[in-house]
Amino acid sequence: MVAEKQEAVLHIVGKARLQGHVPISGAKNSALALMAGALLSSEGCTIENLPCLMDVQRMEEILVSLGVKVQREAGRIHLDTTCLSSAQAPYELVSQMRASFFIIGPLLSRLGIAQIPLPGGCAIGARPVDLHVKGLQAMGAEVEISHGIVHASCPGGRLQGAKVYLDYPSVGATETIMMAATLAEGETVIQNAAQEPEVVDLANFCRTLGAKIYGAGSKTIVIVGVPQLHGGTYRVIPDRIEAGTYMIAGAITCSDITLGPVIPEHLGALIAKLREIGVQVTIETPTVIHVQGREGKYRGVEVETSPFPGFPTDMQAQLMALLTISEGNSVITETVFENRLQHVAELCRMGANIRTKGNVAIITGVESLSGAPVMATDLRASAALVLAGLAAEGETQLRGLHHLDRGYDRIEEKLRGLGATLYRV
Ligand code: UD1
Repeated sequence: MVAEKQEAVLHIVGKARLQGHVPISGAKNSALALMAGALLSSEGCTIENLPCLMDVQRMEEILVSLGVKVQREAGRIHLDTTCLSSAQAPYELVSQMRASFFIIGPLLSRLGIAQIPLPGGCAIGARPVDLHVKGLQAMGAEVEISHGIVHASCPGGRLQGAKVYLDYPSVGATETIMMAATLAEGETVIQNAAQEPEVVDLANFCRTLGAKIYGAGSKTIVIVGVPQLHGGTYRVIPDRIEAGTYMIAGAITCSDITLGPVIPEHLGALIAKLREIGVQVTIETPTVIHVQGREGKYRGVEVETSPFPGFPTDMQAQLMALLTISEGNSVITETVFENRLQHVAELCRMGANIRTKGNVAIITGVESLSGAPVMATDLRASAALVLAGLAAEGETQLRGLHHLDRGYDRIEEKLRGLGATLYRV
């Protein structure tokens, strides 16, 4: 008889009081983009401050499948990209993570051909890749989608610089086009580009390898193509979403914690919202943030997610957890993804009072949450449920932990370091 595989459950003991300092890891979304960008280098490169995550592991496996030789030790990875031997990414890996699609730009630019299955990832909306494809086509690529695979090629051998206007400032499309343009012939201008810090990090990484990229972090990015990129070593920026999640952990448990390293400017919208709610947030040093929760009730607020520097969609679920126990009514409008309120039902299982209409959630603060068995529906939803569990009365049992493991580096260890009680069974 085959033994049934038991699903892991995270038990979170509520009414936690946290104290101390939590170390922040390298940014997941930067690390994934940089690993894709490494394919542009004809010499290979080293990436430091890499977070230990399932998504990073999968990206590593994808690179290996393309012929890249990988040496990894703790937070450091060396990618020898001299012997790139395949332009075809395996479906089993790509289907699990949307960021894996980002290899299409570098592969096309370096090898003149790429075959990438349509991506998977969190079920938070349709998440098409039309903007990536339109941008590559504007640069002279021929793209055909058949049987779930995007086949792209450069009939002229090399992509051509072009003016690309993005209908929406998509992070992924900006990164794809920026990477493709580094080795293209001539100048590419991306208008209405995403301004996220991870886009800037990718641009800085590519520049370390010899790319000519100007204006990353603004709405217009100019890339002057070069024949090839050399090697180099680069350090990933701190994860602003992980940092933000711990800031809310401090607030929701009325605790006093510090966190770092962070780049406070990357957290501007969240810091402003937390202060409006009544959380005391202090920039203690240029890289350390101090969060002090308060005993009395927090104030309800209105929040709308939008591209950077707006309030990040990746912090929406976690903020909602905090608002469930804040006074009065709060309103959250999710504008980036069309289906990113699935955590509402789970928070309601824990006693929250939330109604939704389309992409709007109206949260009426309750006295306190109560621990319950809940299911993670996506990556950031899983973090929101951990936060709610820390604040609730009694114990919460969280299932669907593969979501959590995709994006949070050693979360249990870090929370335990702050004094929380949680364990995986
Ligand atoms: C990245 C982040 C993700 C974050 C998101 C928005 C990574 C690995 N992931 O995802 O954590 O939540 O930015 O900040 O960096 N869209 C299209 N067509 C496209 C591309 C996107 O319609 O070709 C739409 C998407 O469906 C979505 C919106 O644009 O509604 C934003 O998506 P995008 O900025 O591209 O997010 P990702 O790069 O997938």
